[in-house]
Amino acid sequence: MARILIAGCGDVGTVLGKSLHAAGHQVWGLKRQPADLPPGIQPLAADLGDPATLSRLPSNLDYVVYCAAAASFSEAQYRAAYVAGVRNLLHALQEGEQQPRRLLFTSSTSVYAQHRGEPVDEGSPAEADGFSGRCIRAGEELLWNSPWPAVAVRFGGIYGPGRTRLIDSVREGTATCPIGSPLYTNRIHRDDCARVLEHVLSLTDPDPLYVAVDDEPAPLDEVLRWLAHQLGVAEPPPAPESPLKPGAGGGRDATARLRASKRCRNARLRASGFQFRYPSYREGYGALLRAESDDNKRV
Ligand SMILES: NC(=O)c1ccc[n+]([C@@H]2O[C@H](COP(=O)([O-])OP(=O)(O)OC[C@H]3O[C@@H](n4cnc5c(N)ncnc54)[C@H](OP(=O)(O)O)[C@@H]3O)[C@@H](O)[C@H]2O)c1
Repeated sequence: MARILIAGCGDVGTVLGKSLHAAGHQVWGLKRQPADLPPGIQPLAADLGDPATLSRLPSNLDYVVYCAAAASFSEAQYRAAYVAGVRNLLHALQEGEQQPRRLLFTSSTSVYAQHRGEPVDEGSPAEADGFSGRCIRAGEELLWNSPWPAVAVRFGGIYGPGRTRLIDSVREGTATCPIGSPLYTNRIHRDDCARVLEHVLSLTDPDPLYVAVDDEPAPLDEVLRWLAHQLGVAEPPPAPESPLKPGAGGGRDATARLRASKRCRNARLRASGFQFRYPSYREGYGALLRAESDDNKRV
């Protein structure tokens, strides 16, 4: 049985924590408002932005998973979540003379600036040109430069229960299909995110970095059309311009994020023995749509 701290225990962290608890581990979930954590994850009310609240971490931690997310899309919030929060937690671990066997960091494929559909893997340059990717890269470096072995897992766009923005946009008729060269998107189901983290925790000698996306980088228009067919609604019309209208908010960073087109490769993760429950958007969104339909039948 291991003692595991999940720092920033939200959507992904909670699925992970429940599974680790079911496997017999002792799990703490750290967040500012921990009342919503399910049984099995011991709540730890603390603010990663406030070092004073981190002075009472559980002792003798074996593993620490850092998966806090920024509260909003601003440089200040990204810096708080992925730089200051990481630094504060590392400091608290050192002050507590902890000797964790491994740290994990939930990073993002937004650290890659590639945007012309290039293949991307762990060896590709990760030179984000926006604040979001730069802050997350800084968080990775902090972990790798800590006194403990650390693994960063770069997730693609996470979707899953309650994270149905794309489905909703097709159903509501607000989605548009970008025209021109394919806009490749990379994603991973929320449950597979948690399974990847548990898998990496279980590896004897993991690499310091994994790209975690499903098997199929997919052009956005292909995904939108597939969803429209599943939903039985009209295909989204072609977009005359970029999917982001000028002035939609978020500035250059958001524009770069939405226009980003790259094909992330999960070969290293696959070679480590990981098997996806949802190997492409078809299985993942298919399961979400079936769950929706079952819910509707029950109402
Ligand atoms: N969304 C994506 O598509 C995507 C893609 C790649 C990577 N990621 C990364 O994947 C990880 C997991 O994401 P998720 O969807 O599980 O995020 P989430 O549901 O938003 O959970 C993040 C948790 O962090 C906690 N938190 C935030 N600030 C905190 C602070 N100052 N102190 C303590 N806790 C704090 C929040 O709880 P409280 O508010 O109660 O504190 C929240 O429950 C994140 O690191 C995210 O950046 C996400």
